Amino acid sequence: MQVRMADLKHQYQKIQHELEPMVLDVLASGRYILGEHVHQFEAEVAQACGARFAIGLNSGTDALKISLQALGVKPGDEVITTPFTFVATAEVIAQLGAVPVFVDIDPCDYNLDPDLVERAITPRTKAILPVDLYGQSADMATLREIADRHGLFLVEDAAQAIGARHHEQPIGRFAHTATISFFPTKNIGAAGDAGMLITDDERIDQKARSLRVHGTNGRGYIYEDIGYTSRLDELQAVILRVKLRRLQEWNDRRRYHATLYRTLLQDTGIELPFTHPFNYHVYHQFTIRHPQRELLRQHLQMRGIESSVYYPVSLHLQKAYESLGYQPGSLPHAERAAAEVLSLPIHSELTEDQIAMVAEATREFALVGVGI
Ligand SMILES: Cc1ncc(COP(=O)(O)O)c(C=O)c1O
Repeated sequence: MQVRMADLKHQYQKIQHELEPMVLDVLASGRYILGEHVHQFEAEVAQACGARFAIGLNSGTDALKISLQALGVKPGDEVITTPFTFVATAEVIAQLGAVPVFVDIDPCDYNLDPDLVERAITPRTKAILPVDLYGQSADMATLREIADRHGLFLVEDAAQAIGARHHEQPIGRFAHTATISFFPTKNIGAAGDAGMLITDDERIDQKARSLRVHGTNGRGYIYEDIGYTSRLDELQAVILRVKLRRLQEWNDRRRYHATLYRTLLQDTGIELPFTHPFNYHVYHQFTIRHPQRELLRQHLQMRGIESSVYYPVSLHLQKAYESLGYQPGSLPHAERAAAEVLSLPIHSELTEDQIAMVAEATREFALVGVGI
């Protein structure tokens, strides 16, 4: 038996009967850009998130960049963010000519530490950009208080967290804008790249709709901003509409798998994901930590079990960001997490037997040591 980190073929087979006629309808319709399914999907995501507006874009990365641009982030502005995230979070700040200011994480939940955020604010700070890492919300309520106290924007990178809740609220409720990725392996994923920006602010909505079509003002070939080609495709939208209907069921399944792991891995000494009582975690990843992470990974691999490291090098130590001047030791919690975390398979297509197999191999390593 093999256990994979994702099984998109199997997921496809489960929904094929529903998906294929809808995809064929779109192909036959001749309407491929900004059609009815994009419109409907935006409305459905806005409703699921309790937001006034949702704007379909071609990736989670563009959703972040368009958020920051629509909020007026300019060259020289500082944006405080986490170094322990996918590179897109920081990359978009730099692409706009602004400066990513990395602040260390809380070692328990791997998300931005609000106390350190407040200490990093300067007169140049324009926004705070937390990430809901692995499917658990950052401390958005506290971050919003800080943002309001200092007159800053709060942009939530919820790429990994659709369906998550914080103090009973869906993603985005504490932020000025929130962004979602529908990369294929996300809790619901497109058959390609896709993303979404959500907001309650009508001006941001209008600006984002303009930026996704080259900055047009909608009246012929007239442009008010320098924008992008960043629309969500009609084909991706129809696929995502089918999957959105299953989001709760699939997230429930992930949460159930997490419960099984917690039971099966208790008393092993392995550090399991910490979940705040005020967070509803959707387990995009089930991430454990172990000082001998690489050996554990090999041990699992020998038994046909995949695992992944998200992320092996904290962004402040990446060559791409060396001009910012961070050194090893600058952000110790992020650096230690990068050395120790390991994500185990958690996706919704797994069986209980597969979870048991992964847990058994992990237990064996933790209790007996290197078995390879
Ligand atoms: C935390 C985070 N931010 C941003 C992104 C970018 O999303 P996309 O791949 O859709 O551009 C991802 C996707 O992997 C992510 O995990």
